[in-house]
Amino acid sequence: MNIILLGPPGAGKGTQAQRLVDNRGMRQLSTGDMLRAAVGAGTPIGLKAKAVMDRGELVSDEIVSELIDAELAAMDADSGAIFDGYPRTAAQAGMLDTILASHDRKLHKVIELEVDEDALVDRITGRFTCANCGAGYHDRYKQPETEGVCDVCGSTEFKRRPDDNEETVRTRMQEYRAKTAPILPIYEQRDLVERVDGMASIDEVSEAINGLLR
Ligand code: AP5
Ligand code: MG
Repeated sequence: MNIILLGPPGAGKGTQAQRLVDNRGMRQLSTGDMLRAAVGAGTPIGLKAKAVMDRGELVSDEIVSELIDAELAAMDADSGAIFDGYPRTAAQAGMLDTILASHDRKLHKVIELEVDEDALVDRITGRFTCANCGAGYHDRYKQPETEGVCDVCGSTEFKRRPDDNEETVRTRMQEYRAKTAPILPIYEQRDLVERVDGMASIDEVSEAINGLLR
């Protein structure tokens, strides 16, 4: 199964994608994670993307679509893909159709995480991840079981994203409203959209998504 998780910054796309990876053996294809890896490695794509990401604006459609194409090319044909943070524009939605067809895949569902935007700034500014394995945490909603120690790998190093400050988050929200939310009707017309209450607890949201994938 190939699915898109759609929702504004902080909606829980990455958190839920990780659950699906753990529980269903699907693959998470997060263009944000791919871009951050490129920035960290100082590749030409990373050098181009860094300033754009720090401002909270969108990187070019061509760059992110090439990243997705390359990941799909390297994947087993029978692993399902979770598109997390892609597509984000109408142009990317068109590119994804072409890319999926070229890999003999089709899109099964678009799951929209419906959230209250006012709560998202709080979710995002409290977020941190394990610097070693990338497991996600939150200052208030998801602390490691032992303070300062990653539940998954035991590392004691954590990090925060440079774009997780209030000003950049506001720009990211505006970009979502202006460019990403308008792609929903494309998928509605194809009868692919399912909606989940993203304000429920992390476990409840996972349960709802699992129910849709049965
Ligand atoms: P990207 O990395 O995709 O960021 P984003 O869309 O802004 O989304 P986030 O990763 O911030 O949120 P999320 O929905 O994954 O939430 P999470 O699960 O972490 O993109 C970053 C940048 O890269 C973009 O701004 C752009 O510049 C560029 N980019 C990326 N893709 C692009 C594309 N396709 N085209 C162009 N440019 C692109 O959850 C957030 C926090 O809340 C966590 O701490 C979590 O523990 C907590 N939480 C999650 N769910 C719940 C819940 N149900 N209850 C309580 N807390 C919760
Ligand atoms: Mg994310």
